[in-house]
Amino acid sequence: MSKLTELKKFYSGKRVLLTGHTGFKGSWMSLMLHMLGAEVYGYSLEAPTEPSLYDILGLDALIYSEIGDIRNYEKLQTFFDKARPEVVFHLAAQPIVRTSYVFPRETYEINVMGTVNVLECARKYNSTHDEKIKTLLNVTTDKVYENNDEEGHAFIEDEKLDGYDPYSNSKSCSELVTHSYKKSFFNVADGEVTRISTARAGNVIGGGDFAKDRIIPDCVRDTIEGKTIHVRNPYSTRPYQHVLEPLYVYLLIAMQQAMDESKADYYNVGPDEVDAITTGDLADKFVSSWGEGAGWHTEAEADAPHEASFLKLDTGKLKRVFGWSPVWHVDEAVDQTVKWYHAWHDNENMLEYTEKQISEFLSC
Ligand SMILES: NC(=O)c1ccc[n+]([C@@H]2O[C@H](COP(=O)([O-])OP(=O)(O)OC[C@H]3O[C@@H](n4cnc5c(N)ncnc54)[C@H](O)[C@@H]3O)[C@@H](O)[C@H]2O)c1
Repeated sequence: MSKLTELKKFYSGKRVLLTGHTGFKGSWMSLMLHMLGAEVYGYSLEAPTEPSLYDILGLDALIYSEIGDIRNYEKLQTFFDKARPEVVFHLAAQPIVRTSYVFPRETYEINVMGTVNVLECARKYNSTHDEKIKTLLNVTTDKVYENNDEEGHAFIEDEKLDGYDPYSNSKSCSELVTHSYKKSFFNVADGEVTRISTARAGNVIGGGDFAKDRIIPDCVRDTIEGKTIHVRNPYSTRPYQHVLEPLYVYLLIAMQQAMDESKADYYNVGPDEVDAITTGDLADKFVSSWGEGAGWHTEAEADAPHEASFLKLDTGKLKRVFGWSPVWHVDEAVDQTVKWYHAWHDNENMLEYTEKQISEFLSC
């Protein structure tokens, strides 16, 4: 059975509440869920970038969208009542490391109290409705681990959670909040029905990302403006993968844990070791895939804030539990990404184009 058929069997007709639906991952996720036949209820602030994938795809016409702050508990609770979700994905966050150095308090409020609010709404919803939420996934990051050695061991799920910068650390806290809620209020042994997991994904690339301080959007902006791409940290290694890889994993975990409680757990999500490459190598691949007009250079930045320079994830648990393996390796991921931006730059119908990429991926 193809991924598409398997997911459709579960998601078709399901009511799904998704936070962060206007963001980069959230927009891809909204479209995937829509294609799977789910009723999508999105809750987040306006799209964080201009242009945004959300607007490019015209998602307002395809899903139910509520603009609201994740810190506004009452509004979120009302939205849960409206959406009556069977499935919840929590993606809303302040997700940029550098921004977290400028706005640490807001980053903690959004990423930690936002998670508390989502879990609290789920708890309240279950206690006041006959229909219950069946499955909930909290999206965190590979940066949740304490990262002292920077020597290259691959992190496993049991390692200490203590991210360095405010973004990473707020996501470590988001993990801990989830663990506590799961044990205290959603304990299956006490007859609770909502299964909860977290997914710690690495850096993703893909069409439609326009965020600041991310390597592919930086490459696209500079190249389109006819500039040489400026690469901040060419020697830092990152586990890059196409955005569809973790999104498929999120859908898979939420589906499988709904059917089998033992699958509810904490999972690393990342590419195979061969796909953990330096940012300079990624820039090389971008340049050769884009073709004429692209090139990159680097200059050391004075006073650059600390960013972990080595991050590898052990994804053995995900593979063992779900029989999962990545679909697109890094060369294919860069090619698919560059093709998307070319199509967008050439004013193609981007809803159709993006649906085609999703179908291609899910048919592998
Ligand atoms: N993009 C990556 O490489 C990557 C890697 C690992 C984990 N993640 C995680 O995936 C999730 C989505 O990331 P993204 O790359 O799509 O980010 P994004 O910035 O594109 O989207 C963030 C979303 O959160 C919403 N949001 C921000 N503050 C909010 C608030 N106060 N109230 C309500 N909504 C708010 C935004 O409106 C947007 O919809 C985040 O939790 C992020 O930490 C992303």
